[in-house]
Amino acid sequence: MKVLVVGSGGREHAIAKTLSNSSELFSFMSKKNPGIASLSEFHIGSETDPNEVVEYATEVGVDYAVIGPEAPLAEGVADALEDVGIFTFGPRKDVARLEFDKAWAREFMRKYSIRGYPEFVVCESVEEIENALRQIGEAAIKPSGLTGGKGVKVMGEHLNNAEEVLEYSSKLLSAGHKVVVEEKLEGEEFTIQAFCDGTNLAFSPAVQDHKRAYEGDTGPNTGGMGSYSDANHLLPFLTQEEYDEACKIMKDVVKNAKNETNTPYRGVLYGQFMLTAEGVYVVEFNVRFGDPEALNILPIMRTDFSYVLQECAEGKLGDIDFEHKATVCKYLVPKGYPDNPVADSPVYVGDVGDTLLFFASVYEKDGVIYTTRSRAVGVVGIADTLEEAEKKAERAIGNIRGELYHRKDIGTKELINKRVEHVKALKDLRGR
Ligand code: AMP
Ligand code: GLY
Repeated sequence: MKVLVVGSGGREHAIAKTLSNSSELFSFMSKKNPGIASLSEFHIGSETDPNEVVEYATEVGVDYAVIGPEAPLAEGVADALEDVGIFTFGPRKDVARLEFDKAWAREFMRKYSIRGYPEFVVCESVEEIENALRQIGEAAIKPSGLTGGKGVKVMGEHLNNAEEVLEYSSKLLSAGHKVVVEEKLEGEEFTIQAFCDGTNLAFSPAVQDHKRAYEGDTGPNTGGMGSYSDANHLLPFLTQEEYDEACKIMKDVVKNAKNETNTPYRGVLYGQFMLTAEGVYVVEFNVRFGDPEALNILPIMRTDFSYVLQECAEGKLGDIDFEHKATVCKYLVPKGYPDNPVADSPVYVGDVGDTLLFFASVYEKDGVIYTTRSRAVGVVGIADTLEEAEKKAERAIGNIRGELYHRKDIGTKELINKRVEHVKALKDLRGR
């Protein structure tokens, strides 16, 4: 079958690689990703322009489309493709709102009494923000629109006093955002990505991402420096009961989103959760695979992705089978990333054995790969245990040269034990 992949990052390279096992692949990219280009017939254009994407999709005659990033979904690219009869894995704009309108997403959960949202107030003026802060205390401050994952600031982490909170909130208000002020959640984060056909959900293993740039979770926030998943599909700090609770929340979201918008939710629903002393809370929803989280789960997916697309198109999505393997993904990023990245610097890839490589923001010139200003190469080790998977990823990275750095601590026993101890301490505090 003929499938179009929209997007040009590491996540889309992983999507393309998985689909290329059984589909004839076409891709629409804003910039040429050498990994995706080697797997597909491709077109370079504006990923967020529905007309351009539809024009290419109809010209090459694809039956299905998979949309990688959120920006095209927020611009109605899925709507445009579906309106010309191409089944699109990626929600229409009115339900994609779950990601690009955080105020709407929170109000939606409250309206349908979906459990797991923190106390919150949607504010449209500085006075409202001051009142909300008095009511809520320690808070997270969120712009309601898309900011590339970098717009949320948390008191005590990025904002040190009331003055900084008000200064940041005012900036968001003047940029035209509503501001969500919500209770600060304390705990460990995890992600669950569900495949959805509008009614049925098929869940993938839980993953934990690492947002901070430097080891020990220090430094500025990034798009994600790496992530891991465990062989039992849970995480070392997460019980089956907690995983199931998060899945139940996601089922309620898909069911009620259809009631609210009249549009079935098709595509990936990405649930970002915080495991706290009081149980599982929703940090946010995204309407697409995570990057890097897609790099963990797609390579161990046993059920054929093209078959899953067909099932989704028929509204008959069944369970999806994943190998019982641990995965550790680490992103190599340009030195200085995210604030002052070294762009246009060559990357040399040696022997990486059976470790997987996914290209993100790099370009190729005369057979050489070069960095840009963003994440460069995702490396994924897959093995029976996290320890082995982490070692594999590091061995491969040892054979990649360039002006790059990565987080050596992701997936190590030391860091994972810290997560386990953190959750244990929170639960002990509550006598659970
Ligand atoms: P988001 O863009 O909503 O994923 O938020 C980015 C990051 O901000 C999350 O991954 C969390 O680490 C943090 N965050 C968001 N909301 C909260 C909250 N209510 N309490 C604590 N941290 C939060
Ligand atoms: N890794 C976080 C995200 O894709 O949103």
